[in-house]
Amino acid sequence: MEVVSDIASVRALRRHYGDATLGFVPTMGYLHEGHLELVRRARRENDRVAVSIFVNPTQFGPTEDLSRYPRDLERDLALLRGEGVDFVFAPGDGVIYPPDFQSSALVRGVTQPLEGARRPTHFEGVTTVVAKLFNIVRPTRAYFGQKDAQQVVVVRQMARDLNFDLDVIVCPTVREPDGLAMSSRNKYLEGDQRRAATVLNRALRAAERLWNEDTRDSEALRAAMRDTLAAEPLARVDYVSAADPQTLAEYEGAIPAGAGVLLSMAVFIGRTRLIDNFNLAGAAEQPGE
Ligand code: PAJ
Repeated sequence: MEVVSDIASVRALRRHYGDATLGFVPTMGYLHEGHLELVRRARRENDRVAVSIFVNPTQFGPTEDLSRYPRDLERDLALLRGEGVDFVFAPGDGVIYPPDFQSSALVRGVTQPLEGARRPTHFEGVTTVVAKLFNIVRPTRAYFGQKDAQQVVVVRQMARDLNFDLDVIVCPTVREPDGLAMSSRNKYLEGDQRRAATVLNRALRAAERLWNEDTRDSEALRAAMRDTLAAEPLARVDYVSAADPQTLAEYEGAIPAGAGVLLSMAVFIGRTRLIDNFNLAGAAEQPGE
């Protein structure tokens, strides 16, 4: 496995691969099974696999956890070696954002609700770095997790709008045995907070139960999530949502017959902000996970 930190080396590797298909998994490191499942899928579906590890400063807000975001490059590289990755791109900040950097990739509509409403500069940071990584790595297929449901919708929109010549592939959310979605940020949870964090999954399952009993009242689905979250004293709700999975527009009243729903939430457990979602299919649709 090659480990490179400059753009010229990535381009040389890509040239060397010629017409081989290349699967690409962009990450911010501190890898867990969620990341590794993306890598395994990329390994199965492509001749070559590349992973990037870059804690992207532009997607963190001024009050967010950039400086304390967990990092362990040596451990990450050892895990990726075990998965048969061909190369890892681990650039320094100056490689991605040189001092005279002054451009961005901006997606409008689907970045506005949900995470975008609470983290106004987040998705511009994500799309800018992902656009740069796509241009540097030039993958055949890029792999993203359903864990970050809005990120998937936003990246797909950007790839379509800006004509990136690649397929965006979405992989199911990988969870701990007790249902907590794996996240690098779970490391911040201390003592009782780790147990309390399972309330996100329980809230989603409460709403899913109603959905499976044919409840199509979007407010009833949100109320089921809110009620479950309210029973956990360590949890503070940022938002709960029942939205159109394609447009991310919040449903009001009845969800149209046959349509699916993206149930999602952001919840503070202490100072740690966790997100989770279920993408529930409507009639005659394949489920999103
Ligand atoms: P990061 O949080 O490191 O996640 C990298 C990829 O792993 C994302 O596509 C994310 O959705 C996926 N992932 C994280 N936890 C997962 C889980 N439990 N199950 C399945 N997939 C999971 O997302 C980012 O980094 C950044 O925004 C990035 C796209 C790299 C741009 O900086």
